Amino acid sequence: MISRRGFMKLVGGGFTSFAALGGYALAVEPLGRLSIARYQMTPPAWTPGLKLRLVALADLHACEPWMSADRIVSICKRANSLGGDVTLLLGDYASGMNFVTRYVHSSEWSKALSTLQAPLGVHAVMGNHDWWEDRTAQKNGGGETFAHRALAGVGIEVHSNRAIRLEKDGFGFWLAGLEDQLALRPGKIWNRRRMIGLDDLGGTLSQVTDEAPVILLAHEPDIFPKVPSRVSLTLSGHTHGGQVRLAGYSPVVPSRFGDRYAYGHIVEDDRNLIVSGGLGCSVAPIRFGVPPEIVVVDLG
Ligand SMILES: [Fe+2]
Repeated sequence: MISRRGFMKLVGGGFTSFAALGGYALAVEPLGRLSIARYQMTPPAWTPGLKLRLVALADLHACEPWMSADRIVSICKRANSLGGDVTLLLGDYASGMNFVTRYVHSSEWSKALSTLQAPLGVHAVMGNHDWWEDRTAQKNGGGETFAHRALAGVGIEVHSNRAIRLEKDGFGFWLAGLEDQLALRPGKIWNRRRMIGLDDLGGTLSQVTDEAPVILLAHEPDIFPKVPSRVSLTLSGHTHGGQVRLAGYSPVVPSRFGDRYAYGHIVEDDRNLIVSGGLGCSVAPIRFGVPPEIVVVDLG
């Protein structure tokens, strides 16, 4: 039989470790950690001799105290130190959460992001929260969001269903940016019965006019089954790795494919997808087993 004192000790110990775990998931992991997720690959039909390092940031979800402008500046400083040829922003700059002490205005987070530097530039796509938090854009059912304007205002290229050709050491490659797949929310006030995406994969890839490799930026990984093998690598965010990931499995993932595209390097039919666990939090300020990360991909 367990004594009363033993029982109290057990309960107390349980409570202490539960509180410690909660504190870790609530404060230490989302706020205090920054890891670098590194990948190396030579996708099929990659140009021999083209050595490319991508540095990617996803899902900042700017808001205080979780992702202040100062913290974004320090993340950008780290990103700049990673030797990338090109820096990619994968969407969801806007907060997406109610547990905040202060929202960070788009003029502030874009100014912080303007400190990013890379020889072949900084290139961005939008995420669902950038659309969802802009009521005018929801009402208009398209066009631009405040995030498009804020990024363009600091000289960051935003690719909305657009492909551009870049060159490294005389070898060409394409960067294709997809507009968001969950851009327009359903709702009576918007006169929409279902979620509508503004993504145009066919239209984006039709801008690719030569055989150089294509890198696709798509905020949500759910597009991946439709991405043709012509695309060497698809880079996504959005899932945050489920924000809670245990032993390589995420129980809650905002994807219609569940855990399939939750996190990391996924290869299907010789096609490559990398899903970043992102940097910030949405819905709740919790992270466990998926610390904030910067993605570095070495191609070639
Ligand atoms: Fe998202």
